[in-house]
Amino acid sequence: MSVVSISRDGDIAIVTVDNPPVNALSQALRQGLWDAAATLDADPSVRAVVLICAGRTFIAGADVTEFGKPPLEPHLPDLVDRIEGAEKPWTAAIHGSALGGGFEVAMGCRFRVALDSASVGLPEVTLGIVPGASGTVRTPRLAGIEAAVDLVTSGKPVRAAKALSLGLIDAVFASDLQANAVAFARDALTCDLPPPVSARPVAAPDAAFWDSRSQAVAKAAKGADAPLRALGCLRKAAEAPFAEAMAFERQTFLDLRGSDQAAALRHVFFAERAAPRPAHLRDVDPLPLRRAGVVGGGTMGAGIAAALRDAGIPVTLIERDGQALARGTATLRGIFENAVKRGKLSDAQARDRMAGVTATTDHAALADADLVIEAVFEDIAVKRAVFDRLARACRPDAVLATNTSYLDPRLIANGLPHPDRFIGLHFFSPANVMRLLEIVPVPETSDRTLATGFALARLLNKIPVQSGICEGFIGNRILKRYRASAEALVCQGIAIADIDAAMRGYGFAMGPFEAQDLGGLDIAFLQREGARAAGRTVPETLGDILVRAGRKGQKTGGGWYDYAPGERRPQPSAAVADLLADRITGSARMDRDSIARHLIGEMAAEGQAILDEGIAARASDIDLVEIHGYGFPRWRGGPMFAGASLASSRTG
Ligand code: 3HC
Ligand code: NAI
Repeated sequence: MSVVSISRDGDIAIVTVDNPPVNALSQALRQGLWDAAATLDADPSVRAVVLICAGRTFIAGADVTEFGKPPLEPHLPDLVDRIEGAEKPWTAAIHGSALGGGFEVAMGCRFRVALDSASVGLPEVTLGIVPGASGTVRTPRLAGIEAAVDLVTSGKPVRAAKALSLGLIDAVFASDLQANAVAFARDALTCDLPPPVSARPVAAPDAAFWDSRSQAVAKAAKGADAPLRALGCLRKAAEAPFAEAMAFERQTFLDLRGSDQAAALRHVFFAERAAPRPAHLRDVDPLPLRRAGVVGGGTMGAGIAAALRDAGIPVTLIERDGQALARGTATLRGIFENAVKRGKLSDAQARDRMAGVTATTDHAALADADLVIEAVFEDIAVKRAVFDRLARACRPDAVLATNTSYLDPRLIANGLPHPDRFIGLHFFSPANVMRLLEIVPVPETSDRTLATGFALARLLNKIPVQSGICEGFIGNRILKRYRASAEALVCQGIAIADIDAAMRGYGFAMGPFEAQDLGGLDIAFLQREGARAAGRTVPETLGDILVRAGRKGQKTGGGWYDYAPGERRPQPSAAVADLLADRITGSARMDRDSIARHLIGEMAAEGQAILDEGIAARASDIDLVEIHGYGFPRWRGGPMFAGASLASSRTG
């Protein structure tokens, strides 16, 4: 069946695109639209054209799977020009998302109308490229340069109402898109046609505008190239004639399309789409998630409760006593109040979030919960006691989950009457912000429970990654190797500050030592002490030496660095040099690039061991863990992706 078909409503032709799953602009679709334009131009009985899509969305963009291959005709910019130059005016009728090339096709149309649930945008920079079919040149002609800069350099789509107010679309309908679009197209024939978008003027801002935007864009990009290159295209669009700006955009697009960053970001794009849908769960229905419980209202419990409330799920929050409950409730309220201060929530929304919270010390309140997540102290005895109570208080079909970081979930589940309903759900701090969710089944966990974990991730807008059981699961195990490898470099004589600077240069917001100073060295220390107390041999780390000397990080005025009172700027510490003097045995020299390559190689090696042991199913899952849980720069693709290219550059 053809991906493009033509039907009629009187003198209006309706061009329907049907190229599942998301109507991406494959070569066949580009050709189909090209041919449709020719057919309709040649048909004197057609006075206007409506372009509409079947399925879940309008055209979602260029076909990303074609990016690694030589471009085939008709090229997208030519198609957009062809539609704009058609003899009859085209109206794009948008539902779902008109993204990237999809929105560029819509901008080739004389009019754009949309359902109010639709959104439009130019997400190309999130794929390491710039729009390649006039997005940077036509958008400012519709919405002005300021709005175009925001749209194109952030890659964030906007909803129909906002798009209408910006001038990106011409009308919004609540329903009946096709009928309304046809009526709109017919009505438009009774008035003078507006000029095609390419013929509209664009006001050029002054140099100060570009300076300030380029600083802001560079800061937000955190090392990614595409946003600044997109800004360059927009400047060209404002200052040069249409054709020259188009040529500049096309060249920039082609340059970036083959770049390492674009390859890495495409890898992440597909990894993020693969992770939430494990093949073995395809036919398994999750359990309903209407009401949840959270036990423990500390850092993690409050964050998890906030994430559940953000998804509209009513929450019962349980604490061990009234005082702790008051503290937990205040922490939760504080999260929403903060969101109000930052303009993310209205007062009414924040009130509604809290109205959906039942705070109590009585476990009987969990009787109607479909899911209960435990986030109490990291202590096996405390956790076991909590699950004994949950087993009595909860329905036998409720899913019971632990947020443990390091304990063996099999020991926590031991003795539960329904272990098939038990699962590890490992959130990351702050749990209402961080997108990673490690999902850790025990051997008894049923597929339905596992599928419910994945369904929860979808509801909470998180990236789920299934992990097998090992100490620290995927993420904290790699973190441990990363930190140990960084400490090993210190022992060889590399300066702490150089290591941090190397990892910042690589694209992390912070290096491994600064990050520990911020989070506190004592958490990992206590975990090692716990293991030692349990009789395991855990070698003394450099971090242990610092904690024993009272240096737990910024909160104690010093950790790996010194901090002036009230300041967060790390200063190299003579006291640390003294404390570690016995352990620093080498005088190695390494440039920062080599330091970063070494540490990424170490992470990738641990990732490989995790794969070999079957703890992770795919290398790309490990990349997602690092990107969404540990601040690995997205445009590097994750340690496994980056590690593979490091390895090939060593052998190549
Ligand atoms: N090309 C190829 N495949 C795509 C695709 C694209 N642009 N967008 C999505 N897909 C595939 C996904 O890989 C997935 O495949 P699978 O079912 O085999 O795993 C399937 O379509 C469904 O995708 P989602 O799970 O993401 O579906 P949702 O319904 O949740 O979301 C969407 C729909 C909002 C359209 C989302 O898919 C999306 O954001 N897509 C990417 C849009 C994009 O980045 N477009 C710009 C492309 S670059 C461009 O256009 C350059 C131009 O300027 C020249
Ligand atoms: P926390 O110390 O901030 O909070 C624990 C809370 O549990 C306290 O409020 C305490 O009063 C409550 N509590 C203790 N015993 C209880 C009981 N019997 N019944 C009800 N409530 C009880 O600890 P945090 O950091 O929130 O950690 C909780 C769990 O989450 C731990 O297992 C930890 O390993 C895990 N985790 C922690 C992360 C972090 O970054 N802090 C990240 C991911 C997981």
